[in-house]
Amino acid sequence: MLRADINNNKAEQFGRWLNESNYAFIYKSMAGIFNTVEPWIEEKQIEVMLNDLSADDSCIVEFFLLGYGKEKSELLRILGRENYEFLLETGFASENENLIDPQGFCILPIEDLFLIVSLPSCYKNAKQRISDIYIGSDSTKLMKYIKKGTYESILDLCAGSGVQGLNVAAYADKVVEVELNDIAYNAALLNAKINGVSQDKYEVRKGDLYNVVTEKFDCIISNPPFVPVPKDITFPLCGDGGEDGLDIVRTIVGGFEKFLKPSGKAYMVLECIGNEEKPYVVDCMKEVLKTGIINVSMINRQQIEFQADASAKIAISIYNDPQNYDMYYKAWMNMFIRNNATYIYPVVVEYVNNDKALEVNYLRNYSKWSLDSEFEVTSGVEISECNKQYFAAYEKGKTKAVFDEEVKDLLENSGNKSIRTRIKDCMDTGAYIKKIKSTLKAVSGLEAQGIIVKK
Ligand SMILES: C[S@@+](CC[C@H](N)C(=O)[O-])C[C@H]1O[C@@H](n2cnc3c(N)ncnc32)[C@H](O)[C@@H]1O
Repeated sequence: MLRADINNNKAEQFGRWLNESNYAFIYKSMAGIFNTVEPWIEEKQIEVMLNDLSADDSCIVEFFLLGYGKEKSELLRILGRENYEFLLETGFASENENLIDPQGFCILPIEDLFLIVSLPSCYKNAKQRISDIYIGSDSTKLMKYIKKGTYESILDLCAGSGVQGLNVAAYADKVVEVELNDIAYNAALLNAKINGVSQDKYEVRKGDLYNVVTEKFDCIISNPPFVPVPKDITFPLCGDGGEDGLDIVRTIVGGFEKFLKPSGKAYMVLECIGNEEKPYVVDCMKEVLKTGIINVSMINRQQIEFQADASAKIAISIYNDPQNYDMYYKAWMNMFIRNNATYIYPVVVEYVNNDKALEVNYLRNYSKWSLDSEFEVTSGVEISECNKQYFAAYEKGKTKAVFDEEVKDLLENSGNKSIRTRIKDCMDTGAYIKKIKSTLKAVSGLEAQGIIVKK
């Protein structure tokens, strides 16, 4: 268990040590300057890069980022006694003979913050399959959308590590975080102390959404549990959004008019089911909000089959039940069919509270190709065999592209059929998902090369 009832000076001193160390610079360099949203770097990739670091820096990265146990004497020398004891007192690590072992936690340098979070399940020293103290690319996406203006008060619902509120704490007179999970609640408190955010303006309340809130705010931030989950499957608190993924979202949106000040803004990140046209969070917001502006940034749009595949993979991992992948996949797909969902949309939603008639703006940023798309070969383009295994597209006698038989079949049989119809008879579920991915990739490549046009 992580403890937060630690002397502020000790936490601040540890935060200063982190700031003065090379750790944040190394992490940012490892993550790559172009990798702006995914906080988790592959463990193998980190291990390779460790070879170029000094022994001390390598030790710090292994301990704080990968959660590897280290020799007590080595860490004592690098951190100093007080910082070493701080890690034991908080429960971040414990001693085991000659070693000091992180207890499934790590410290991520995100933007200007150092955040204690759970090790993700993809790292070998993770203690949980689903994190108590979650952070992911949805968290970092949301951070990028929130304006760093001046705020009197900010509410961060579903706080987790406290990342969203801490990210804008310097711009606000007051930040209130709300979190239900005990371990995440302590992490949000501890992270504020490590990052030197004054307790006068920062408060973490343990509870269920607005149940622990009475005042109005000029900004409400949330990264709620939004994973659509069939009702007979138990899923961790941090992700479970009910059958349509909108159970918690509905309550949060339902409080915007009551808890936002006039001209106040709300920001929410989620992955939301929807149809060809839009994610269903828009309908959910329109049901309760009659005035103001809803801006919907659709960062991507994917076939719902991909979400069923991803959720089934999480389920077999949580329940250690790999032989039942197909059963979980079907449970998710049946639920999506009941909810008329054909797509999953990663979105960030902004709501501006005003008293003008409701306005909705859509910002679409995704490939227009889907399983329901139809296409035809561009006029003037001819397909023929160019050697035994390969085929080519020619235009006015010039080769435009060379491809294999699978792509040739896709082009020849396009007719008036949708892509879905063309790959319908395909094999088992895993092979079907792969086939959808490769076909959608192929058609967008063929379009870019001018070989096909969308109908
Ligand atoms: C997806 S995580 C987001 C964490 C963090 N805000 C971020 O952006 O990384 C969702 C968090 O909501 C918390 N949570 C779930 N249901 C809640 C509820 N009803 N009230 C408050 N917090 C809740 C979970 O424990 C989890 O920490």
